[in-house]
Amino acid sequence: MKGKTLVISGATKGIGKAIAYAFAKEGVNVAFTYNSNEEEAEKIAADLEKSYAIKAKPYKLNVLEPEEYKNLFKEIDADFDRVDYFISNAMIYGRAVVGGYGKFMRLKPRGLNNIYTATVVAFVIGAQEAAKRMEKVGGGSIISMSSTGNITYIDNYAGHGTNKAAVEAMVRYAAMELGEKNIRVNAVSGGPIDTDALKAFVNYEEVKEATERISALGRIGQPEDIAGACVFLCSDKASWITGQTLLVEGGTTFNTKC
Ligand SMILES: NC(=O)c1ccc[n+]([C@@H]2O[C@H](COP(=O)([O-])OP(=O)(O)OC[C@H]3O[C@@H](n4cnc5c(N)ncnc54)[C@H](OP(=O)(O)O)[C@@H]3O)[C@@H](O)[C@H]2O)c1
Repeated sequence: MKGKTLVISGATKGIGKAIAYAFAKEGVNVAFTYNSNEEEAEKIAADLEKSYAIKAKPYKLNVLEPEEYKNLFKEIDADFDRVDYFISNAMIYGRAVVGGYGKFMRLKPRGLNNIYTATVVAFVIGAQEAAKRMEKVGGGSIISMSSTGNITYIDNYAGHGTNKAAVEAMVRYAAMELGEKNIRVNAVSGGPIDTDALKAFVNYEEVKEATERISALGRIGQPEDIAGACVFLCSDKASWITGQTLLVEGGTTFNTKC
């Protein structure tokens, strides 16, 4: 993977940051995006370059405006010589998810549409731009981050869960149509991972405790648990894996024992 380039959205913290570090450790150059944390993004880029002798650069992107991906990739073209991997990871929170994060009877069009834009539309536009570049270098690997909240119930998660189900379906369609270009497309579906996004859940402590109780491994997930799966899916070791959702969930979805 050395000398190749990863483009990843939302790598200032949590899962995205862990993925950026895991790829850099493999000698992969990293073009990553931030939304609000520019200072942190600059620090991460400097640390990645210093620690792993790779090229790393942050770019501003708002996934609520997915068309921004078009200019973003033009900027990346000027800074990096190739694009081999694309991971759609960024997720919105706060005001943008009002009416999207909540109980079924409180769901509203704007919040739901925002989550669709950030989850599905942003994946599509980002993956289209990435695929055009991958084609030029003989192929590549695309991943959308998903969540097991689309197959198991999580309080207030209907808006996110349904859009994760949608993006998994989109991944399968993309995989069928990009396979002839030697581009593999998969989703990584995480169980609860201990990040700021999870801490923003109103019932964070409850989710954490329940995860530790039902996980076969007796613990909540860490960002690095997801990062390892992404490195594997982008590597040649996963050369015949496409159109799949890889569950990385510590055995939490099978356990319905009371
Ligand atoms: N945590 C979990 O339990 C879990 C489980 C399964 C799947 N996932 C998925 O994994 C992915 C990452 O989640 P996480 O827990 O690592 O989240 P996180 O720690 O909250 O990080 C979110 C990232 O998205 C960026 N972001 C926020 N709003 C944005 C916007 N409008 N446009 C572009 N970027 C924006 C943030 O950038 P700034 O800091 O610059 O604002 C940050 O880098 C998401 O797709 C999530 O659904 C999470």
